[in-house]
Amino acid sequence: MRLLSTRRRHPATKTIVLAMALFLMGALYAALAPTPRSSADGGMSTQVEEGKALFAVGCSSCHGLNGEGTSQGPTLMGVGSASVDFQMETGRMPAKAPGQQLPRKENQYTDAEIAAIAAYVDTLGPGVQIPEPEQYQSSELEAANGEERARLIARGGELFRTNCSACHNFQGGGGALPEGRYAPSLMGVEDKHIWEAMRTGPQQMPVFSEETLTDEDTKAIIAYLENLHGQPDSGGLSLGGFGPVGEGLWVWVLGIGGLAAVAVWITKKGVRAK
Ligand code: HEC
Ligand code: HEC
Repeated sequence: MRLLSTRRRHPATKTIVLAMALFLMGALYAALAPTPRSSADGGMSTQVEEGKALFAVGCSSCHGLNGEGTSQGPTLMGVGSASVDFQMETGRMPAKAPGQQLPRKENQYTDAEIAAIAAYVDTLGPGVQIPEPEQYQSSELEAANGEERARLIARGGELFRTNCSACHNFQGGGGALPEGRYAPSLMGVEDKHIWEAMRTGPQQMPVFSEETLTDEDTKAIIAYLENLHGQPDSGGLSLGGFGPVGEGLWVWVLGIGGLAAVAVWITKKGVRAK
């Protein structure tokens, strides 16, 4: 105490005393507060408790302390662990601020932390669960001979063009949506995340439930995308991967443009020749 009183004038003293007082209060609270009793049904697992604590720190400001939602973010009751897994592993969540579109970014959490938060969100209400590899990886594909493999990929391509290309473009290259939003490129997206995106429908994307696309369908689509993006570019200009529309457009612009240029050149020459 002598030390403190002789240095009372020192600007740091106040801060140190305050920190000591806070520490003391914290220690007292920890010693005296009743240990939280676990709920009647035998208590939450440690993983869920861990998830709840992480959620309180990183997510509750927008999603509410119990995932009930706030003006800054929707309720997470019943979204399920698959949605949390997708949103966190692709770095979309935690969002920095609610914006036009919350893009992919570097994920700052460990796998164990994400699993804990996902397990906690699962306790809020029944939702889509994180898939097992059998649900999205077609083991038949590796085993299949060339012909079967080609058939699965072709089916996936058909399903993709029917259900996805309106937003993600024919080759999954992504595209613009109204109101400044966009569907991202699907190049290099992990198989599990493709499955989770289909089943949970992030942001503007519709949910494709099992009634719309069975797990077999999702496997075909994933196989199609894998095959498409595993392929080296076949050379030449990719023209944005818009398929026949893009190529037709370029032929139109260059072809007609070229003809017009030639026509102008000829008339000029003709005028000069006079
Ligand atoms: C700055 C606010 C903010 C923070 C912090 C935040 N979120 Fe979100 N979250 C949002 C908003 C806004 C949406 C809705 C995005 C949309 O659909 O346009 C959302 C959507 C989600 C969804 C998708 C819900 C669905 O319907 O499928 C999940 C899951 C989610 N957040 C989990 C989390 C988790 C887990 C954390 C903490 C690690 C977190 N969020 C932190 C704002 C936030
Ligand atoms: C109505 C437009 C729309 C349709 C149809 C649609 N999506 Fe999406 N998709 C989006 C949007 C918008 C996002 C971005 C969501 C976000 O940022 O949270 C997205 C995101 C994704 C992602 C995440 C990519 C990433 O960068 O992490 C995948 C994977 C995906 N979609 C696959 C599909 C598949 C497969 C289909 C068809 C079965 C499909 N989408 C149909 C609009 C659509």
